[in-house]
Amino acid sequence: MSQRSRTGAVALAALVLLVGGCTDAGGGVRGTPGAAGLRDPLFPKLGNGGYDVSHYGLTLAYDPATGRLDGTAEITARATQYLSAFNLDLAGLTVRGATVDGAPAAYNRAANELTLRPRDEIPEGTTFKATVTYTGVPEPLTDADGSKEGWLRTAGGAVAVGEPAGSMTWFPGNNHPSDKAAYDIAVTVPAGLDALSNGIRTARRTEKDGRVTTVWHEAAPMASYLATVAIGRYETGTATALGSVPVLTAAEKPVAASSAALRAEVPGILARQVKLFGPYPFAATGAIVTADGPLDYALETQTRPVFPASSFDRSTLVHEQSHQWYGDSVTPASWKDIWLNEGFATYGEWLYGERYEHVPARTRYETAFAQDANWAFPPASPPAAENLFDPPVYQRGAMVLYKLRETVGDRVFDEILRGWPAKYRHATATTDDFTAYAESVAGRDLDDLWDVWLYGDEKPSRP
Ligand code: ARG
Ligand code: ZN
Repeated sequence: MSQRSRTGAVALAALVLLVGGCTDAGGGVRGTPGAAGLRDPLFPKLGNGGYDVSHYGLTLAYDPATGRLDGTAEITARATQYLSAFNLDLAGLTVRGATVDGAPAAYNRAANELTLRPRDEIPEGTTFKATVTYTGVPEPLTDADGSKEGWLRTAGGAVAVGEPAGSMTWFPGNNHPSDKAAYDIAVTVPAGLDALSNGIRTARRTEKDGRVTTVWHEAAPMASYLATVAIGRYETGTATALGSVPVLTAAEKPVAASSAALRAEVPGILARQVKLFGPYPFAATGAIVTADGPLDYALETQTRPVFPASSFDRSTLVHEQSHQWYGDSVTPASWKDIWLNEGFATYGEWLYGERYEHVPARTRYETAFAQDANWAFPPASPPAAENLFDPPVYQRGAMVLYKLRETVGDRVFDEILRGWPAKYRHATATTDDFTAYAESVAGRDLDDLWDVWLYGDEKPSRP
């Protein structure tokens, strides 16, 4: 720097700011590596900086006998800085090769980070395609709360769920809810098995070797934690919801008969929820019911929630379908905003119960208020990763909405509940976005409400 003129240095600095890169010794511009994490307060290493994914094309082949997964991930992304290298999240598995825009890219693994260094640097604003081929026996993650997620091997095949982090056990990507993308997922499995996933089934073909490939398309932006694949012997049922939305439910053969009646209720429940929450945000719906196994909770995987048979009951179905508006369409920008998912889906159960099952929301609210476990921490600030799915997130989160309704009245509350997923349809949002939105609809400041119910450490003296 000392050798350069001051004006030269200023001009260079301006150039660096403009292109978001670094300068080399010759005064040219060069890129910098994208960040290895997005500094999520609860999961700092999840996601990566420097790019924004618009599409994942996953081509998978799975052999249930050996547990081996062969995959190719084609990731279309736009650089948000001048990139010399960038990271993808990937846990386990062996990378066999990587390209960027068709040219071989150098790659390196460290913990759950896969770093790609393209042959040519990627200017800010450029759309590029990264392709990673990989293989291996996926290992699920054990969450801080002890539950399993990721690619779970089952007696009949596998089921993949990814909240909050498990999608990186079966494909590389920008594994954070703030970067949503469209997906095409093709899954090849031995003859006689089915492979279910998100969205619309666009093709099914038998390969020369007799294996069967099923192709799924989810056009709406989807967070990586909401991607799913379920492989096994499934019985499927189809119907139409809301006049035009294709319904596809699937249940593993041993639980097909026992789940059939409730699976048939999917369109009817959806029709009622549209009245409560506004237009359904996706082009397909359904449910995947697996035999009980390593998955011991239901997940609101986009368009087609996954349930272990023992959790497939009406209230859980209502809950996971509520998430399609609250969580899947409006997605939390960071994991500490998880109450925007679970508080709303729980309130969705309360509202459904009030409107269609003669159980007043007040009753559910009073029950929740009385339970000590719901007061362990304020819903807007789960203290650690292990608390992500704790009772305050669900129950106290729903209580926030109940109190909001009591404060602003039924009519304004209804406008907020429907307006929120309309305003942030297919986007991400923070708790601050919600409080600001609610105040804008209510036409007044609601700080007292948020201070006590959303952020307060103390349980209020009365409900
Ligand atoms: N989001 C799921 C629900 O609908 C719960 C997921 C629990 N996941 C976990 N890793 N513990 O309530
Ligand atoms: Zn939930």
